[in-house]
Amino acid sequence: MANHIFIKKKINSFNKKISVSSDKSISIRSILLASQAVGVSKISNLLESEDVLNTLKTIKKLGINYSKKGNTHNIYGFGLNGFNLKKKVTINAGNSGTLARLILGLLTKVKHEVKLIGDKSLSKRDFSRVIKPLRLFGANIKCKNDTLPIRITGADFLRPINYKEEIGSAQVKSCIILSALNTPGITNINAKSSRNHTELMLKFLQHPIKIKKNYKYEKISIQGLKQLKSFKYNVPGDISSASFFIALTILSKNSKIVIKNVNINESRIGIIKILNMMKAGIQLKNKKIYNGEKIADIYVKSKNNLESVNCPSNLNSSAIDEFLIIFLVAAKSNGVSKFKNLGEMNKKESKRLDLAIKFLKLIGIKVVRFNNDIKIYGNPRLNLTGDYEIKNFLKDHRIFFLSCIAALSLGGKWKINDKDSINTSFPSFLKILKAIGAKIN
Ligand code: S3P
Repeated sequence: MANHIFIKKKINSFNKKISVSSDKSISIRSILLASQAVGVSKISNLLESEDVLNTLKTIKKLGINYSKKGNTHNIYGFGLNGFNLKKKVTINAGNSGTLARLILGLLTKVKHEVKLIGDKSLSKRDFSRVIKPLRLFGANIKCKNDTLPIRITGADFLRPINYKEEIGSAQVKSCIILSALNTPGITNINAKSSRNHTELMLKFLQHPIKIKKNYKYEKISIQGLKQLKSFKYNVPGDISSASFFIALTILSKNSKIVIKNVNINESRIGIIKILNMMKAGIQLKNKKIYNGEKIADIYVKSKNNLESVNCPSNLNSSAIDEFLIIFLVAAKSNGVSKFKNLGEMNKKESKRLDLAIKFLKLIGIKVVRFNNDIKIYGNPRLNLTGDYEIKNFLKDHRIFFLSCIAALSLGGKWKINDKDSINTSFPSFLKILKAIGAKIN
């Protein structure tokens, strides 16, 4: 079957209520924590995308069974360090940096060597950020150039660490937290802000984890070797997936959308804050707390007089996966938008900062880059009429989603390759687009 799509027409006005797919970060964490709990954990509404399915396959390879009944996954844990290996195994994290980095944190005491591999994109990514703290715990890690494949063998003795996390990476912070679970004593992390789903889930499970915030860092202390009880968890909608429909609605004419039950954790809603600084008027309604996480319905309307933004870089980590789509909104706003310190974007599934600039130039937008800062010269009258082809983007799912939203909101005739990239995080993306009226072949 063809692995590309054509979009040749802007979307007509729509007024819809939708749900997007479940949160990827929370889905992966719920499986990994369930794999360390004693007994059967029940997780409802797990995202069934490749990154999450690879997480299920990974725990299975490590000796943890699971089954599915209705929309609930049962995970049969044996408690901390319960991976039951009889021999060496190879686990494949596919495209998922989150799975690869978090699972390493749970492998510091495994009985046999585990080899971790990934796809082409993941094999280009840097793992020194997790190898460094894991070696301080005492983990035995072998690899070349700090990239996959990585071989890890459990250590007989681990020591708790005090670690300063300077990147603002939730993957690094979570890897350390997970390793701390299997380590005696108290591990302390001084972390720059990043998404905090692991911490909230551990609190929800009544695990002894303490968090103190100060101006620049969060001090997180985790007590090791305390068994986790099995649990029930319901995964909310993913704001990263919602972000594409938010932008489509803002940029389309006379349209409205309500996106139901989306996770609005403070560490994830940078996109809402930034777009509202641009006068997008997004509203969050029906707020509630569910399993320790904040959820809301997101109300969005079309906007034709968007303002440019001087984006404060303290919002970067809470919008890190959404900058691609934020840039598209900036491209149609009035004035010059400025974004700073975006180096981490180039460490994702593709070099996203480089590709974003290429993309904006392709659609005729002036962009000026200085190191990792960019200025986007918006054009409120932006209307495309040419032919565009999007290819060679390392199957980065978010580049595919961005291209579809640009085509449907700005016009032009588009061929977008590597359709299968949507399976990484949002397999129902095209189906939902079609349901709100998009013509996609
Ligand atoms: C994620 C954290 C972010 C994000 C990624 C998912 C997570 O990466 O970009 O898509 O689930 O922990 P970093 O923690 O490396 O910034």
